[in-house]
Amino acid sequence: MMTNVLILGANGSIARVAIDLFLKETDAQLTLYLRKSSRIKNIDSSRVKVIEGDVLDSEKLKEVMVGQDVVYANLSGSLEQMAKNIVQTMDTTGVRRLIWISSMGIYNEVPGQTYNDILDPYRYSAEIIEASDLEYTILRPGWFTNKNEIDYVTTQKGEPFKGHEVSRQSVADLVVKLATSPGLEVRKSLGVSKPK
Ligand SMILES: NC(=O)c1ccc[n+]([C@@H]2O[C@H](COP(=O)([O-])OP(=O)(O)OC[C@H]3O[C@@H](n4cnc5c(N)ncnc54)[C@H](OP(=O)(O)O)[C@@H]3O)[C@@H](O)[C@H]2O)c1
Repeated sequence: MMTNVLILGANGSIARVAIDLFLKETDAQLTLYLRKSSRIKNIDSSRVKVIEGDVLDSEKLKEVMVGQDVVYANLSGSLEQMAKNIVQTMDTTGVRRLIWISSMGIYNEVPGQTYNDILDPYRYSAEIIEASDLEYTILRPGWFTNKNEIDYVTTQKGEPFKGHEVSRQSVADLVVKLATSPGLEVRKSLGVSKPK
């Protein structure tokens, strides 16, 4: 069955790679939601709808969420506020599946590294999502690279993170798999990295 995927922050560096993969490898219908729609160029597909808007604009977010099967949030900035707004809007509209890009280190799970306050927005937004009853998957990728490879492992919450980096293509590959495989890694928080 065709999946309707709403991509929040669609001009983000991982989102742009994921959009290409969705179009190449699935029959998903994509709604790209971003603050400046003119940034989306060269996408010529009847499967793509582009909507300009801010994730913190609850009314607009609600409008765009109706009828979606999956929300894929690829955001940076005020992540706690965004997480609250997205969870609330998903509850209101009855959309259940959320894929949320976070960062490695939010649980102090990286061997040899101590927790850095810079991760507070990532940690607290993850807490908001974990406290919801949504079918979420939080991804905690390592440092992004532009390597032309899909090569990664995942680690569960509570396990030590493996390695430090991961290609954007790898993260996008996992996003596409999660979005199109109902039930896969639901209510899980996954480290994503290329092991050394
Ligand atoms: N770089 C790394 O190595 C690394 C590693 C692990 C995790 N991460 C994190 O992973 C996440 C995804 O990474 P990325 O590189 O794909 O991110 P990115 O390129 O920074 O994209 C984030 C997107 O969020 C959008 N955004 C911010 N506030 C918004 C709002 N209020 N409404 C709508 N859109 C909004 C931005 O839109 P505009 O284009 O309008 O600004 C931007 O396109 C980020 O949080 C990043 O920090 C990064």
